[in-house]
Amino acid sequence: MADRYAVFGNPIKHSKSPQIHAAFAAQTGETLEYGAECIDEAQFETCVEAFFREGGKGLNITVPFKQRAWEMAQWRSPAAERAGAVNTLYMNQQGQLCGDNTDGIGLVCDLANNRTRLQGARVLILGAGGAVRGVLEPFLAAGAAQIVIANRTRAKAEELARAFSDLGVVSGCGFNEIDPAPFDLVLNGTSASLQGELPPIPADVVARRTTCYDMMYGAEQTPFCAWAEAAGSGKVMDGLGMLVEQAAESFRIWRGVKPQTSDVIDSVRRQLNAN
Ligand code: ATR
Repeated sequence: MADRYAVFGNPIKHSKSPQIHAAFAAQTGETLEYGAECIDEAQFETCVEAFFREGGKGLNITVPFKQRAWEMAQWRSPAAERAGAVNTLYMNQQGQLCGDNTDGIGLVCDLANNRTRLQGARVLILGAGGAVRGVLEPFLAAGAAQIVIANRTRAKAEELARAFSDLGVVSGCGFNEIDPAPFDLVLNGTSASLQGELPPIPADVVARRTTCYDMMYGAEQTPFCAWAEAAGSGKVMDGLGMLVEQAAESFRIWRGVKPQTSDVIDSVRRQLNAN
């Protein structure tokens, strides 16, 4: 029987993970099944335990269960430990439930594929929620020289900056306090585009050389990406590459082989645009 994997979340209907992992399996010649399950909020821990008891090999965890997966894990990678969230679960040889977080490294890989250097970079991050928490350790490990976290609720940005200040130069502020000089990278980690909104930030944080990256993606250009183009950024990206890259890193953890991502990113993009 094929090794079994799945993504657990709620809602899960629009998950692209089964399609992405099926493409990885075909490409690498690995034999596996990968499903998507919508998990009742009250049943998450029971469902995870049952999945592994019944021989399941690995899980991806998505909204709203990443923090609960972190709590369940008996061993956590350094990235997961700092992120406070787990998106990849598996059992080790000793039968311990292990938790990793591949979101941040997925973003770092997508930036590298698109020739955006983090080494020595000045980075502006918009938002201070769970998505941003997950990228701070990988960004600092990749050599970011300075990270400014700007958030609607300023205190949350300051608190998050403090929690990572032992790893590098990280500060927090409100949107109206951002140093109005161009950054190397501006990352939108707010969920504002879900409401069709845009964080209020000055256009002078963007120059031609600035890469602008929205962690969200969609069939339509996101409000942040449209703003970044109008502000004059020479490189504007949405989060679809990050989605495929985090999946590739989970696949590597589970199977020991890292799939190629570029064709898979293209096919997920085509499918997104066709719907
Ligand atoms: P996630 O896990 O996706 O990061 P979250 O933890 O709820 O979700 O965080 C959402 C982030 O988007 C927060 O930084 C939030 O700002 P506040 O801390 O002030 O709430 C930010 N956000 C949400 N809607 C926004 C909007 N319309 N404009 C600006 N920021 C917004």
